[in-house]
Amino acid sequence: MATNNPLVGLASVTSATLLQTKLSLYTSYAVGGRVPSETVPEALFWDTRKPYDYVRIDRHPDFDYVIYGGEDHKTGQKNDTEKAYARLVATLKNIIPKVRIDHRWSGQVICTPDGLPYIGENADYQFVATGYCGNGITFGTIAAMMARDWATGRKNPWTDLFAVDRKKIKGATWNYLRENKDYPYYMIKDWIARPESDSVKELKRGDGMIIGSRAKKRAVFRDDQGKIFQLSPVCTHLGCIVKWNPAESTWDCPCHGSRFKPTGEVIAGPAEEPLSPI
Ligand code: FES
Repeated sequence: MATNNPLVGLASVTSATLLQTKLSLYTSYAVGGRVPSETVPEALFWDTRKPYDYVRIDRHPDFDYVIYGGEDHKTGQKNDTEKAYARLVATLKNIIPKVRIDHRWSGQVICTPDGLPYIGENADYQFVATGYCGNGITFGTIAAMMARDWATGRKNPWTDLFAVDRKKIKGATWNYLRENKDYPYYMIKDWIARPESDSVKELKRGDGMIIGSRAKKRAVFRDDQGKIFQLSPVCTHLGCIVKWNPAESTWDCPCHGSRFKPTGEVIAGPAEEPLSPI
């Protein structure tokens, strides 16, 4: 299932939901820019903070391209996502003043309580590979080898290590509980919270906001032409309230990281249905 975050597919809803509780979705940011050739050694650098920042270098004939990334946070749990880019730009310019930044982007990384991905069968005829937590080149390659063996009925030495239903590894239980407190916490907090505004008047073009009253909330987006789109803010996965992500213009769910377009269509699961129009 090439869906970033595994969807229900052929698994039962219970086992798909159980797998989902073992996955934590983080939003990660990066900026890229040119620097004069050999300004920085060709290596991978990262610091030991949490969340950590990293630098990668891509050599070209006439210049080097620097990618600077980090600022990870659980998806849907930060209001001012623009600040993540601002901090990356400021730090990169501080380290390499000559950099000419020309790109920025964000993506989601999926992590697991024990730090290893889940690669294996989770229902008859259904093989998942997820939770690479930023090590996609390595684990994606391992997953491809394991999927080949699974599909052709060959034994693979790593099956137990990466099994979806593997037994707990020391220290993982605490991480599991800590990551899963988000669901009840955000579910209650956001349902009873007062919306950001009671009218669409404050909503600028290209922006989104939770509007209405405590009991009747709407996720409202105004496009660049001024047209208003009104949606139910209730995430179609397990019912949390979505939040506007200003840096990416998406509705993000703080509970398990589903993401929706400004007009409600699903970008990333576990939600599989769009936000309902009002
Ligand atoms: S992603 Fe699970 S409730 Fe939204």
